Amino acid sequence: MLDKPNIYNVNQKEFWIDPYPDLQILRKELPIAYVPELNATLITKRNLIFKYEKKVDVFSSDQPDGLMTKLMGENMMRKDGKSHLNERKAIFPSISPKTTMAIWHKKFEDAAEEILNSLKKKSGGDLVRDYAMPLSAEALKIVTGLTNMERDEMDRVSQGMIDGIANYSGDPSIEENCKKCTTSIDLHISEIIKSHQENPNNSLLSTQLMAGLTDQQIRANIKLAISGGQNEPRDAIAGTVWALLSYPSQLKAIQNEEFTWLDAFEEFARWISPIGMSPRRVAKKYKIGTIDFLENERIFLMFGSGNRDEDCFDDPESFNIAQDRSNTITFGAGPHFCAGAWISRCLIGQVALPKLFAHLPNLRLSSTSKVEFRGWAFRGPLEVRCTW
Ligand code: HEM
Repeated sequence: MLDKPNIYNVNQKEFWIDPYPDLQILRKELPIAYVPELNATLITKRNLIFKYEKKVDVFSSDQPDGLMTKLMGENMMRKDGKSHLNERKAIFPSISPKTTMAIWHKKFEDAAEEILNSLKKKSGGDLVRDYAMPLSAEALKIVTGLTNMERDEMDRVSQGMIDGIANYSGDPSIEENCKKCTTSIDLHISEIIKSHQENPNNSLLSTQLMAGLTDQQIRANIKLAISGGQNEPRDAIAGTVWALLSYPSQLKAIQNEEFTWLDAFEEFARWISPIGMSPRRVAKKYKIGTIDFLENERIFLMFGSGNRDEDCFDDPESFNIAQDRSNTITFGAGPHFCAGAWISRCLIGQVALPKLFAHLPNLRLSSTSKVEFRGWAFRGPLEVRCTW
């Protein structure tokens, strides 16, 4: 007799608007629960995720029937063991802390300066669209090597893929749009690949070519980087700015150098995690406590929930830069730990936030519009209207 995980029902629309009330109940009452509306078993406690994410022989990343593999090709995030490690090693010269500080940092600063110089001419706007989006796109163009792509196109194709891989209800128009986005990326890669073969640099396109990865591997990994590397920094930049403007005493504490801009980013991303979930497939029968897992069950590791675990954080439901964040799992907790983590910390904590507040000292949230967040797999503010 098998003990299946307990069942917990969510209202998909409400879960998308705000997943946190359901996640709080799940952590407290059913930390491993099957959610029929998502056709997946959710693991919501931080220490369970932290432990079982590393058990890759059971909780496998190899998901040939998953939406990401079907729509974007088989990238490194959908591989285990050696085949994952080979590709991860190949891109290390693009994503290492050394490359980030020695090469990307200055380029990110130049991009931020350029965007801010044009923003200064205006007196207000939406920080998602006018600052966070173009800066993330510019950074991603540089890091991927797709410098032939327009900023708006980078944002469009990233969003289209994110929507496609979170399309659990199977909406055909979302799938169609996602395919158009991946086609656009393929066209941009084909257009610029020769120049990377002739003049390689530290970009993801160049380092994969130099490591001898196949065309299929290179294209799939570039799509992966775009799906994860545009929306998340965009949402984190705009969201952290909103949090700091909403809690001015914490902004002041940073300006007085009691805390850093990186503290603000990391606390925001703990509180409202830009990536709330990473999926796995059960590779073989397994038991946790009394709960049986069957081969091919779909598992969602709920990072956004783990980041608010009452047993791991003093003040889990608040934005509080002073609290201990050593237990955060914003970037994951296993072999697939975000490849762009150092890049993101540099872009957001060392460039985007300090430069914005230095250039626009009178930055204020617009009093007439409310900031709303959406999403549970990927979560961010719809817009952050400000004046300056
Ligand atoms: C705020 C910014 C970001 C957040 C919160 C974030 C979060 C994550 C998370 C949660 C994962 C999955 C980890 C797991 O399953 O264990 C991941 C994987 C990944 N991220 Fe990020 N990410 C961010 C920015 C970026 C950027 C800027 C890039 C590229 C330039 C990037 C590239 C990747 C790649 C390639 C993987 C797959 C790594 C692997 O399979 O080994 N991410 N990210």
